[in-house]
Amino acid sequence: MKVLVVGSGGREHAICLALSKSPRISKLYCAPGNGGIAKIAECVNISATDIDAMVKFAKTNADFVMVAPDDPLALGMVDALEAVGVRAFGPSKNAAKLESSKAFAKGIMKKYNIPTAAYEAFTSPDAAKAYIKKQGAPIVVKADGLALGKGVVVAMDEQTALNAVDLMMCDRKFGDSGNKVIIEEYMTGPEVTILAFTDGKTVVPMHSSQDHKRAFTGDLGPNTGGMGAFCPSPLYTPEIADICMKEIFRPTIDAMNKEGTPFKGVIYFGLMLTPSGPRVIEYNARFGDPETQPILMQLETDLLDIFEAVTDERLDKLQIKWHDGYACCVVVASGGYPDKYETGFKISGLDKIPDDIFVFHAGTKLSGEDLVTNGGRVLGITARGSTLEEAALRAYRGVNCVSFKNAYFRTDIGR
Ligand code: AMP
Ligand code: GLY
Repeated sequence: MKVLVVGSGGREHAICLALSKSPRISKLYCAPGNGGIAKIAECVNISATDIDAMVKFAKTNADFVMVAPDDPLALGMVDALEAVGVRAFGPSKNAAKLESSKAFAKGIMKKYNIPTAAYEAFTSPDAAKAYIKKQGAPIVVKADGLALGKGVVVAMDEQTALNAVDLMMCDRKFGDSGNKVIIEEYMTGPEVTILAFTDGKTVVPMHSSQDHKRAFTGDLGPNTGGMGAFCPSPLYTPEIADICMKEIFRPTIDAMNKEGTPFKGVIYFGLMLTPSGPRVIEYNARFGDPETQPILMQLETDLLDIFEAVTDERLDKLQIKWHDGYACCVVVASGGYPDKYETGFKISGLDKIPDDIFVFHAGTKLSGEDLVTNGGRVLGITARGSTLEEAALRAYRGVNCVSFKNAYFRTDIGR
């Protein structure tokens, strides 16, 4: 079978690595891919958001397409592929609204009593500001649309919240994504990510995981796409898992069916374990990055078997198996990320990394013979262990082998 993966980050590298182990795949493509993915798949130079070019390529070259990133899902790439008879993994454009519109997601949660922070949505900056003044701080301001994980301001004081409204609605920092804002209740508690496979009928959670969104060690600095992750999370007990299945996962899948927008693919539940129980912070309509890197290292079942079972709506017939133990991924980033950073620096030391440590490439490219930096998050160095400590120790052993100019990483992932 010929399979195409759409995307170019560490997540797509992890997906390609898992797929490359499937005996049923005769040819693996990744578009556009990156310097690391090029070693295990043929990279095709098509932008992940170029729906027409992707559909055209897939129609003649692929039997199955896996759409990994949020943007092409929100633009309807899965619908476009299915319309020309190409089997594709991922939610439809309408189902992907769970991620691409926070107002849609919050509306679903309100209507179906799925636990989340109380909120109001606004299209007028004045009304948003009046609401903030009425509620007081701490309070959370969110751009409605996609904003590369940066459209959320957790404001500890009122002025910060008011400034966030100006930034999103008046300065249009995130373009149209800020036409509408959500103002929501500030919640407290540890955060856990649950990724689940679903065919719209059955929902099968993967190993629980914890992301590290802040840039610097000790949860300091600005929010990023994620600086590291590990799985499973010791916080996510079987009791909490039961509550989440009953109050959050199952009701969300049922709600999407009732709304006429059945969700098929990977659904991402960003959860906060608050003093009053688990609540949804956000949904994503896809695998998380970097959570996917450690999670797929723990997967025993052939990933293609799972993708096909989801697409063909027979997930209930498949038993998904996981390895014991833990996995940990540490992101090595370009100095300056998530703000301005330079790229094009030579990456060295990858040849010194032991075989049991895997280096997922996020922002790299080949420049002649050299591998150079080509993004904010550059590498996701991932290892397994029988304990979390062991997995983290191994991952950091790998991190200490690599270097490039201005590189930085957090020293507390999985610790
Ligand atoms: P999001 O992009 O929605 O995942 O938000 C980014 C981060 O902001 C989350 O991982 C949380 O740490 C924080 N956050 C979002 N919503 C809330 C909330 N209602 N209360 C407290 N923190 C929040
Ligand atoms: N790691 C957070 C995300 O993928 O959105």
